[in-house]
Amino acid sequence: MEKVINYIKSNSDSYVEQLKDYLRIPSISTSVKHKNEMKKCANYVAGQLKSAGMKKVKIIPTAGHPLVFGELIHDKKLPTVLIYGHYDVQPVDPLDLWKSPPFEPEIRNGKIWARGANDNKGQNFVHIKSVEAFKNTGTKLPVNVKFLIEGEEEIGSPNLSKFLKTNKSLLSCDAVMISDTSLYQPGIPTINYGLRGLCFMEVEVIGPNRDLHSGSFGGAVANPINVLADMISKLIDKNGRITIPDFYNDVQKLSAVERNNYKKLKFSDAKFAKELNVKKLAGEKGYSTLERLSGRPTLDCNGIWGGYTENGAKTVLPSQAYAKISMRLVPDQDPKTIAKLFAKYIKQIAPKSVKVNVKELHGGLPIVVSFDNPAVKAAAKAASKAFGKETVFTREGGSIPIVVEFAKQLDVPTILMGLGLDTDNIHSPNEHFNLSNFSRGILASAYFFEEFAKIK
Ligand code: BES
Ligand code: MN
Repeated sequence: MEKVINYIKSNSDSYVEQLKDYLRIPSISTSVKHKNEMKKCANYVAGQLKSAGMKKVKIIPTAGHPLVFGELIHDKKLPTVLIYGHYDVQPVDPLDLWKSPPFEPEIRNGKIWARGANDNKGQNFVHIKSVEAFKNTGTKLPVNVKFLIEGEEEIGSPNLSKFLKTNKSLLSCDAVMISDTSLYQPGIPTINYGLRGLCFMEVEVIGPNRDLHSGSFGGAVANPINVLADMISKLIDKNGRITIPDFYNDVQKLSAVERNNYKKLKFSDAKFAKELNVKKLAGEKGYSTLERLSGRPTLDCNGIWGGYTENGAKTVLPSQAYAKISMRLVPDQDPKTIAKLFAKYIKQIAPKSVKVNVKELHGGLPIVVSFDNPAVKAAAKAASKAFGKETVFTREGGSIPIVVEFAKQLDVPTILMGLGLDTDNIHSPNEHFNLSNFSRGILASAYFFEEFAKIK
């Protein structure tokens, strides 16, 4: 093991160079223009898995972007870990806010800057490099490993969930390992034990049959943007509660134990607000910031458009207005039920002066995983070793919808070993990943194999 650890420590520069190659591929899954880049990226991952010593490496076509699979089953008696990650990334706009181009990775201030640096290329590369270190030092990997790296996580994993159902034996394992979340705070090793779910909606408000002169018509005809803004503001009350009837029906209350755990983490609201340059935080009354960030459901408008948005003024009463609205969910809320409640309420509060259409774009179930099992404990111990600190357990505010499917289909524990930071700007301009988290992550992964080997 010492050989592996030393090898990892002495190769950090080379790992960064290799990660740059991965990051140069613009694998934007939502963009039809990038279909070939997606294939190229799948090939890159497959090549990496091969050089890490994986056997049966295959690129599996789907109705959308390909999956990449590889495995090393060298001893049936050893436990098997399935490592999941995604090679697709979010779009990069607004491009002009990037300090360096999103697909030309650059190192500044001990961080690597590029789209996907954290989410998720940097984090899944960690596991590939740790497996490779065993091979390159001639050290027998103490566990069996399977890799499943998909290309559609950022669009809700539509094809992977189908694949899971029909390929259970290919993916059978004793635990799923995922690094696609965040550390609680810089330098603090973290196991995430929950993910929020997601219900993503689009609202269309249709007014008059054409754009109108706001002088000739304003005052007599409903303005779809005004109406939409009014409807959105009605969705949350002055206490930060979501007003959709029955919205909270299935929300599991935070237990006293859990609330106490949140408290023990000593989250600093002041520091958090300062980093975001906001004077005051906001949200649901009666809950701490940490609780509101991960243990409670939320509703946010993600985008709103319509009318004239170019430079200067144009006096127009627009004929249409649109908004994208997402709700983060917690157990036992179901995105399908929430979508129905949302659509019903929106239609109910819409004035007769406009027509309203509501579409459900995608969704995912929330999950809280047990951390009282040997696989998760092995990961916590490994992370502690790599970071030199006690591992903390937190819930994550973001979503990885496929995790629920893993739990349902494979019926094994899921380990969420987050290595990013909430300040890494994922989905935003200037995404980055701390090189120290990258190299500690590779060590944590290697230590994990050593600890996980002991569970059987
Ligand atoms: N890596 C993120 C999940 C995440 C978000 C972890 C925030 C830590 C903090 C994942 O790739 C992601 O972005 N998921 C999407 C869901 C998907 C259905 C678009 C999300 O949470 O918005
Ligand atoms: Mn993401």
